[in-house]
Amino acid sequence: MAPLISIRSSNDKLEIVNQLLLPHVTEFLPIESVEDAHDAIKTMKIRGAPAIASLAALSFSQYLSRALKASPQPDFLASPEALKNHVEPILAYLYTARPTAVNLGAATRRLTNTLSSSIAAGKDTQFIVTDLILEGNAVADEDVGRNREMAKWGGEWLLKRVKDSGKDVSVLNVMTVCNTGSLATSGYGTALGLITYLHETGKLDKAYYTQTAPYHQGSRLTALELLTLNIPSVMICDTMVGSLFQHHDIHAVVVGADRIAKNGDTANKIGTYNAAVIAARHNIPFIVVAPISTVDLDIEHGSKIPIEQRPPLEACLVRGVLYPNDGKTEQVQVMITPPGIEGIYNPSFDVTPAELITAIVTEKGVAVKAEGESVFDLTPIV
Ligand code: MRU
Repeated sequence: MAPLISIRSSNDKLEIVNQLLLPHVTEFLPIESVEDAHDAIKTMKIRGAPAIASLAALSFSQYLSRALKASPQPDFLASPEALKNHVEPILAYLYTARPTAVNLGAATRRLTNTLSSSIAAGKDTQFIVTDLILEGNAVADEDVGRNREMAKWGGEWLLKRVKDSGKDVSVLNVMTVCNTGSLATSGYGTALGLITYLHETGKLDKAYYTQTAPYHQGSRLTALELLTLNIPSVMICDTMVGSLFQHHDIHAVVVGADRIAKNGDTANKIGTYNAAVIAARHNIPFIVVAPISTVDLDIEHGSKIPIEQRPPLEACLVRGVLYPNDGKTEQVQVMITPPGIEGIYNPSFDVTPAELITAIVTEKGVAVKAEGESVFDLTPIV
């Protein structure tokens, strides 16, 4: 089966798969404006740090190319200042859709830089807009290629690490959290890309993945991706990580990232920190796979990473189809808490300290801590 996709785009037509309906219903939603993109990101119809950056950038390109088609000389082309005053608020607005994933900010900053450098080069406003459209499209296009690079770097590094540790194994068992595959990126995935690489090279025994409550990116999305790719896999509840490590030979935990601080502290889906603590207890390598655009050198420590708090109600609901569903796919949301409970803690992400992370894999290679250090020096690779 062909790998799943999160975004479909051609010319200025843009569509996303509504991930709230997966795995039971595949519905493409048209994105007709930057407001549609903002809403889809905020309501998690599309999610995953690289995918939301791609959608924001593509919707910006779409907006500009439609504006040019509607009128060959829109008002905002009157001067570079008019153009700047028009597009900068749009980029700022897109950036507000979700706070933790830095890729969104990296994409909007990249487009702002393109604007500034094209203005500084004295280009005509028509050409500046063309530069912006191309740059917006490039944000999405570049993602797949670098995911494949990261997967190979990380997969080969892990195989060597296991071999060097003296373990005589030819195939690995790897656990992951959340969803980091094609649905979370423009294709192939980050952590799930590494797992896919091991599978494709005949080095994977099984992929284990947590359900990842409360949004269930694991049981709804990662499960579907692994099935589609025909990768042998085992789902566990989030509470079973310790038991898994006690009773099964797990060779690594591999996760994605929403933001990596300068010292390597990493924000990722809630539950990642729990997995890292238990992995350290069992001496299991803990690997973060993320593009360079996820590293935020402006943030020294993980404690400064903004953590998105999702609406409390989201932690009280599960969504899916009725079981047994007799082939029907009517979507339902089921309340699993008594009505009226007040205290609900629902952060979408947690921060895993660098100390617990064995390696950070980017498209530039594999970063490890210097001997005796508990934090990473990521400055040279960014
Ligand atoms: O809230 P989500 O589903 O957007 O969170 C996604 C994650 O935490 C992923 O692990 C992360 O974005 C990396 S995706 C390649």
